[in-house]
Amino acid sequence: MSTEPVLAVAGLWANYGATPILQGVDMQVAKGEIVGLIGRNGVGKTTTQRCLIGQLPATRGSIRILGQDMTGQPSDAFARRGVGYIPQGRDVFPRMTVEENLTVGELIGGAKGRKLNDLVYQYFPRLKERRKQMAGTMSGGEQQQLAIGRALVGNPALMLLDEPSEGVQPSIVQMICEALVSIRNELGTTILFVEQNLDTILAISERCYVMDKGRIVAEIPKGNVTSDVVRGHLSI
Ligand SMILES: Nc1ncnc2c1ncn2[C@@H]1O[C@H](COP(=O)(O)OP(=O)(O)OP(=O)(O)O)[C@@H](O)[C@H]1O
Ligand SMILES: [Mg+2]
Repeated sequence: MSTEPVLAVAGLWANYGATPILQGVDMQVAKGEIVGLIGRNGVGKTTTQRCLIGQLPATRGSIRILGQDMTGQPSDAFARRGVGYIPQGRDVFPRMTVEENLTVGELIGGAKGRKLNDLVYQYFPRLKERRKQMAGTMSGGEQQQLAIGRALVGNPALMLLDEPSEGVQPSIVQMICEALVSIRNELGTTILFVEQNLDTILAISERCYVMDKGRIVAEIPKGNVTSDVVRGHLSI
């Protein structure tokens, strides 16, 4: 069996224009792990995820997915390699129904995607009730569930989520957290999520990377992800 991590990032640099934002990011995530990427506003968390899906090119360093060097590849290659991305905000097609949004995700997942459709409705029963509804008319929490569902039907090996709790009411955040853990447990999906919400970080992360000024400055190892430790790193 391969011991290659699902994600291995080494010395990653990336710019917006001439400004270096990422300045040597190193991280590794093993199969089936749920890892949090935390840090204050503007430190480069979203930029890191954009690099990991090929939306922003690295200027230095490397990104390996499931043992394959993906550095410099376009975003469709990352998607085919099994990276699913749930960006910050409500990134669903607002004028399409729930069902149609999931169909878009299936195009990436192929034949297997169609079977995963039913699974999405199991994890998120609300989406089944609303399957004929326009996505843009649903609540923030429902849209977040749909965004996760749309990534899931693409059959990802690695799911990247950017602040999944944002704009979602607490009871729904808890339900989404439970669903993400079930998805990992049952499908083996590896998860790297950006988050600033303490409850969400504590609810699902087994390990955390702490980012500051475009670098990973600390790691909170397994067993140490406690309220005090996380608060200390976020200065809250
Ligand atoms: N499209 C862009 N063009 C130019 N600069 C950008 C762009 N997007 C982000 N930046 C800058 O890059 C830096 C890192 O931003 P990034 O969005 O990665 O931070 P973040 O850690 O995700 O922050 P937040 O917690 O606010 O979401 C910030 O200084 C930001 O202003
Ligand atoms: Mg961000």
